[in-house]
Amino acid sequence: MIKNTLLALLFLISITSNAQKFEGLAETPPLGWNSWNTFGTDINEKLVMEIADKFEELGFKDAGYEYIVLDDGWMAKERDANGNLVADPVKFPSGMKALADYIHSKGLKFGLYNCAGYTTCAGYPGSRGYEYQDARSYASWDVDYLKYDWCNTPKLNAEGAYMTMRDALKTAGRPIVFSICEWGDNKPWEWAEDVGHLWRVTGDIINCWDCEVGHGSWSSSGVWKIINMRKNIRKAAGPGHWNDLDMMEVGNGMTDAEDRTHFAMWSMLASPLIMGNDLRTASKETIKTLTNKEVIAVNQDKLGIQGFRFSNENNIEIWIKPLDNDAWALTFVNMSDKPIQLDYDWEKHNIGDDLNGKYVDMKKTKFTIRDLFNHKDLGDTSKHLKSVIESHDVLMVKLDKKN
Ligand code: GLA
Repeated sequence: MIKNTLLALLFLISITSNAQKFEGLAETPPLGWNSWNTFGTDINEKLVMEIADKFEELGFKDAGYEYIVLDDGWMAKERDANGNLVADPVKFPSGMKALADYIHSKGLKFGLYNCAGYTTCAGYPGSRGYEYQDARSYASWDVDYLKYDWCNTPKLNAEGAYMTMRDALKTAGRPIVFSICEWGDNKPWEWAEDVGHLWRVTGDIINCWDCEVGHGSWSSSGVWKIINMRKNIRKAAGPGHWNDLDMMEVGNGMTDAEDRTHFAMWSMLASPLIMGNDLRTASKETIKTLTNKEVIAVNQDKLGIQGFRFSNENNIEIWIKPLDNDAWALTFVNMSDKPIQLDYDWEKHNIGDDLNGKYVDMKKTKFTIRDLFNHKDLGDTSKHLKSVIESHDVLMVKLDKKN
């Protein structure tokens, strides 16, 4: 009897210990690079090793970028005779473990992609029915991050499918960041906090300011379409679980000003910062934007609060993000196609965040102002903030409480 009870208890413990994601893996939004936006399925091990080298050479690693993630197209079209996934032997002749070793030798982490469906979006073997086996492969290759897509999943329940993969990863035993990619179709911000570490909130991004490009049954969205697509989901974001606005398009064809705005907004919104450009050919300005540590610090703030639109008047949007130590980040965005002279009277605009119960009487409390893109101190909030903001550009500032 006692033996049976003990066995039942052990069984229960083993079930409950599996029904959890790995904790502590993404206490701040993940920073990294993903192959898809620039290379699609045209990827190979030489490219990935060169990208890893650039992480070191160009200061990305030093700025905090960590994950190098291979998206769709890394696999052979068929599993092996035992049902195991295999790396494409032409693109990745040394195999995934060797690539992981190379990336780890640089002090970086390695990510792979697969899909909850029978096949991936680009038609490679999906994980449906092979979840535990695939999780064991990832663990044996020392993978640190899995992006898990949602193509070819007829009649599958999303929450269940993502929980299955979460449990498979947990059972395989290697801590792996779990990146849910079902495009927001099933509202993961309502159920995924215990399932994944980040979840896409929209369909695919495209490299434009505010366009939408149709592809038949689905469409890709520009930066502002994505920002404006979901309402009231900021409460779902926090340490360990993030709203993912998709891999970035910085350096992929927008103007430098638009790239700055894109980067500032992903930082304000506490989105993972996953670069999607070719680091080997990135311009000086692109590198400068992507490695801006003062902006990245806003994204990585330990409170993990997603920012929000504070006001939208006369073509200037103002976004706010509460930060640790009673500091605030504010981003002024010029939405118009002409430069705007900003003349901002702090005392007329008390700032606050209802969701987090934070309010500031701007007449009583004074802050120093730091311009995060130009790395300059701009005085304090007792005076108007005056600055010319170019078209589609930002003035992003951090306010620190004055003693
Ligand atoms: C989907 C995802 C993209 C990318 C492709 C790969 O469209 O949303 O981010 O992973 O699949 O096929």
